[in-house]
Amino acid sequence: MTNEELVAEARAAAVNAYAPFSRFRVGAVAVAADGTRYSGANVENSAYGSGICAEGSAISRAVSAGVRKIDTLAVACIDADEPGYPCGNCRQLMVEFDVDRVVIDAPDGPRQHTLEELIPHRFKLS
Ligand code: THU
Repeated sequence: MTNEELVAEARAAAVNAYAPFSRFRVGAVAVAADGTRYSGANVENSAYGSGICAEGSAISRAVSAGVRKIDTLAVACIDADEPGYPCGNCRQLMVEFDVDRVVIDAPDGPRQHTLEELIPHRFKLS
């Protein structure tokens, strides 16, 4: 799948976001090593701190299906004019499952990064 197709899928996932508080809908797609894709969206909560980011939703779906290695994580924020980079917590979630590349939706086309670029000197127990 191309990066363009991946961010399109992330944008489609964002449509199902539950974001009544921020009005900021985010979608994500986690691509497992075998190519299977798991999408997710942010799910907010009246107790604000209990909300879940889109990346966490997608990663949780993948891991719950037995995945332990995620090749690619694509993210799209459909209510932003600027590229929506993952928050620090989501970057740490990606570390745990060894994400190789992160694809960010942007007005000028998808941006591809290594996780090393987004979270250098990462923390991981092994
Ligand atoms: N959000 C994500 O889904 N992913 C991120 O990486 C950053 C923020 C969500 C959380 C919240 O529902 C909304 O965006 C505004 O912060």
